[in-house]
Order: sequence, then structure tokens, then C-alpha cells
Amino acid sequence: MPSEHFFVTGGMGCIGAWVIRNLVQAGLPVTVFDLSTDGHRLKLIMSDEELARVQFIRGDITETAVVCQAIADSEATHIIHLAALQVPFCKANPPLGAAVNVVGTVNIFEAAKKVGLRQVTYASSVAVFGHKDEYAAARLSDDAPLHPHNLYGVFKQANEGTARIYWQDDAIASIGLRPYTIYGPGRDQGLTSTPTQAMLAAAKGERYHISYGGYNGFQYVDDVARIFIQAARTPYEGAGVFNIAGSVTHMREVVAAIETAVPGVKGRITYDDKPLMLPDGQEDSALRELLGPLPDTPLQEGVARTVAHFKQALADGRLPQEANT
Ligand SMILES: NC(=O)c1ccc[n+]([C@@H]2O[C@H](COP(=O)([O-])OP(=O)(O)OC[C@H]3O[C@@H](n4cnc5c(N)ncnc54)[C@H](O)[C@@H]3O)[C@@H](O)[C@H]2O)c1
Repeated sequence: MPSEHFFVTGGMGCIGAWVIRNLVQAGLPVTVFDLSTDGHRLKLIMSDEELARVQFIRGDITETAVVCQAIADSEATHIIHLAALQVPFCKANPPLGAAVNVVGTVNIFEAAKKVGLRQVTYASSVAVFGHKDEYAAARLSDDAPLHPHNLYGVFKQANEGTARIYWQDDAIASIGLRPYTIYGPGRDQGLTSTPTQAMLAAAKGERYHISYGGYNGFQYVDDVARIFIQAARTPYEGAGVFNIAGSVTHMREVVAAIETAVPGVKGRITYDDKPLMLPDGQEDSALRELLGPLPDTPLQEGVARTVAHFKQALADGRLPQEANT
């Protein structure tokens, strides 16, 4: 019997699906806790045999007793907390956003305390930072001042504070990770999902206009999933929060990588030359010091893999032409 068991919240989501795939392929047991039963992302990247090895619990992260019971029943040794509502959903329904993103994270720490788990790994975000013109550096360090400009970022900042207080009061350690723009199969919703939508359109030979431009930290989803697992397996003392850098690149390079992967779409993938207000990129030396070498797929390769995955999935009928990723 493996001695590790991972409890993954938000496992039906984009990063969660890749976390599960990595765990299952490593032969590790995993329990998924998610309100959704829509397995389209998992089916896009995993076989039926692999999925049969996963235990699924349908549950709402906002319900304290349900979360505590699920973690206790799973006999988990590691928690990776990813369940959240992304920027557009928090904007559309702020009370629900606060319940899921803030109360949900409190519930995870509370459950860890109740069942005697001493460490939690959770997703924060680049959105905790302010606008790029508020900083002298183009690439922000972990300890750059936080000044979120949307509720999603405010909620993520609250999560970082929650983690700090659970370490201070209850000695529950945590590693919070701040991704930037995740791309790859399964990235089909959220503010920065349009570069991946462009990769899907290219795989179909279609036109696509990416909704923003400028510099971003682009992160291949499989790399980020592996970083979450690596963090969860690293014993830690304290409530650390770490940036993930990825490839800090201009959108024109993403478009060029798509055109290299699918030469037939040259000139048909365009982008709005309007950058996000967020900083151009993040700096992640502290995370590298903590975890050692990080998976770091170069942008060109990540884009090529994504397009190839979409093409194969379209051919296999795992990705109907009319559906999202
Ligand atoms: N995708 C990115 O670029 C990005 C960037 C920075 C941070 N993050 C953070 O990483 C985490 C994972 O992101 P993702 O892209 O996989 O998100 P996603 O939107 O694809 O998945 C989120 C999952 O949370 C689940 N969920 C929502 N409400 C729930 C509830 N009440 N109870 C239980 N589950 C619920 C959803 O069903 C979904 O499966 C999130 O915390 C997100 O804020 C993502």
C-alpha cells in the first residue's frame, strides 16, 4: 500500500485534472473533492482505466462539516486545495466568490486541524499584486507589496492571510503558490484562457482573436500541476507563499509558437495589443530554492504539445468540434 494519499479539491478543473493525471500515473491514490461532476477536462487527458483509479466525492467546499468529513474519510496524507471561482465568476457573483474562495479555504485549514494534518498546499494567484505601474520592477518578487484590483485577488490575499494565521495559532504549515497564465489542454475558462482557445482554434484550422496582449508569465499546465505535487510532498515549516514564473513572454511569441505548430494558420491567429494591468512577470527563485529544479517546459514546446494534444483529441472524438477545451 502506498503511504501517501492525496486529497485534491477542484480536481475537475484545469490544474486539478493535471494534478490527478500525474498522481494516477505515478501509482498514487487520490481523492477528488469537487462540486462539479463534469469530467470533460479529465477525459481530455486521461484514459478510462486511469480514471477508474480515482475516488470522486461530490461536495461543496463552502460546507465546513462536509469538507471535514470528506478529508477524514479519505485518510489523506496530503491536501492540494485548488477549488475556487475564477475572476469573471467572482465579478458576476461576489458573495458566492467570497464563500467559495475565502470560506472554502478556511474550511480546508479547519479540516486539516481537525484530522491532524500538519500541512496544506493551496493556489493563490498573481492577482494578489497591483497594477504594473505600481512597481519599479517588471518581474515581481514574492514579497512585493500586495494590492489587488479585483475581488478575486482580494479573496486570494485573504487566503494567504488565513494560511498565516493557521500557522501562527495552530502550527498548520502551508505552501501557497501563485500561478500567472496557465495554458494547455483543459484551460477553457477564466480571464486568461484565450491563448489556449487560440491553440484549440489553430488545431481545428480556424481563426481566433486573443482578447489581450503584452507580457505575461505563461505556464504550461502540466508543469504547474507537478509543482503543486512537489510542494505538497515537501515538508515545510511556516506559511510560505511563492510565485511561479513560467515563460515571461510577449503575446506575439505565443502567436508565433502557434504558427510554428500549425503553419497553415499563419496570419489567422491575432491578439488585442492591450496588455493586462498586471505586472509583466514574476520571479520564482525562492520556490526553486525550496523545491529544487522545477519543471519548466519552454513556451514553444508547451504550445506544440497543446496543439498536438488537441489535434489528437479531435481525431479521437474526445473533443467535439463545437465544444470548448
Ligand atoms: N488557471 C489559471 O491561470 C490560474 C492562475 C492563477 C491561479 N489559479 C488558481 O488555481 C486554482 C485552480 O485553477 P483552475 O484553472 O484549475 O480553475 P478551474 O476554474 O478550471 O477549476 C476550479 C474547480 O473548482 C471547482 N469548484 C468551484 N466551486 C466549488 C465548490 N463550491 N465546491 C467544490 N468545488 C468547487 C469547480 O467545479 C472547478 O472544477 C484556483 O484556485 C485558481 O484560482 C489559476
